[in-house]
Amino acid sequence: MSASTASNLIATVDEARQWDRLMQLARIGAITGADGSPGVNRACLTPLDREARRLLIGWAEAIGLTVTVDEIGNLFLRHEGTEPDAAPVLTGSHMDTQPNGGRFDGIWGVVAGLEAVQAIREAGIATRRPIEVVAWTNEEGGRFAPGCMGSMAWARFKPANAWDDVADPQGITFRQALDEHRREEADLALRPLGGRPFAYVEAHIEQGPQLEAEGRDIGVVTGIQGSRWFLVELRGETAHAGTAPVSLRRDAVQDTIRAVTALNALMTDPTDVLRFTVGRIEVLPNTSNTVADLVRFTIDFRHPDKDVLLANGDAIEPTVRTAVKGCEVTVTERFHALPVEFDALVMDAVQGAADAAGLSSLSLPSGAFHDAQFLVPVCPTGMIFVPCRKGVSHNPAEHSEPGQLAAGARVLAATLADLAER
Ligand code: GLV
Ligand code: MN
Ligand code: MN
Repeated sequence: MSASTASNLIATVDEARQWDRLMQLARIGAITGADGSPGVNRACLTPLDREARRLLIGWAEAIGLTVTVDEIGNLFLRHEGTEPDAAPVLTGSHMDTQPNGGRFDGIWGVVAGLEAVQAIREAGIATRRPIEVVAWTNEEGGRFAPGCMGSMAWARFKPANAWDDVADPQGITFRQALDEHRREEADLALRPLGGRPFAYVEAHIEQGPQLEAEGRDIGVVTGIQGSRWFLVELRGETAHAGTAPVSLRRDAVQDTIRAVTALNALMTDPTDVLRFTVGRIEVLPNTSNTVADLVRFTIDFRHPDKDVLLANGDAIEPTVRTAVKGCEVTVTERFHALPVEFDALVMDAVQGAADAAGLSSLSLPSGAFHDAQFLVPVCPTGMIFVPCRKGVSHNPAEHSEPGQLAAGARVLAATLADLAER
């Protein structure tokens, strides 16, 4: 890309416009965190999700982008290229949030994609390849587990009906929610599921502390560690808390404590690289004076080394079975994503864009999973990170400064303009 194209893009990315859009979207599902921070709870395939999508669609149509959706609800905003049949450059992220989420995780990558495309158009750049901005369905997995359903289905990692029976805490299945969602968006043009983009670039807040600690503007992401999710179900027997002898009980809570203690031992890592989380525990019947007969708990296990991911992940079920005393055990794996490495084509383009904009950068891997993970087998893929305060994320206190986000959008715009010429 010429120096003048790069400097035009720096000028046309509008920091205030991008921030204003993010703040408008943050009102849809706004919550207040325990410390008073302004967060968001906008679960996928809800009326709030659709309200946010309509706002985004309005901005996209106002600048002449074409809007389409696919059968799993992924939303695409297309900027046409001078060669419409050329494979597009794809960018984007997700618009759903965690139940106690922040204002930037996911949504910034979508808004930055729109900002970048708008900046390219306003700089008078006619790209050879089309550029498409995507909002993937259900990245977070907060309402329907696991996350990344939209990108997994799009990339043919799983069939689109793989999660039909997954229910949310209210008992609504993913299929029911998706069918309703598609009825509400029936006015939007349908496109086939899947595709073969020239490249995919996802912009995201770092969700970790490294960029801030090292005072860098931009993260050139090198890859994503692997993740495995499990649902463990322990079935015992209800009994009277005052009368049933402890020795005769099949207590699902006590067995949960035994299982989690054994799992903590399995997952102990002196290097502190391994990530092991029991994030949700459901107890039935959940009363003080009844021994619980059912506990369901989730496991989120991550590691950058495939061998550790496979060995420790495979050891989860035997570890639970050995640890429990009286309960029947069911362990279901719900997500299995191996570590991925990003492509030099995209990493070099991001690095070049950061350098050309005079921004400092750092190459780093991602501890969080992202839709980008599932694009890796489909096309050259990479990500751009910007710093977030103290690395806090999945929390209403999640925060990045308008200027940090504008820097990220400038790097994204230059990267997209560069890739769209190749
Ligand atoms: C994504 O939200 C993750 O949990 O990494
Ligand atoms: Mn995210
Ligand atoms: Mn997230």
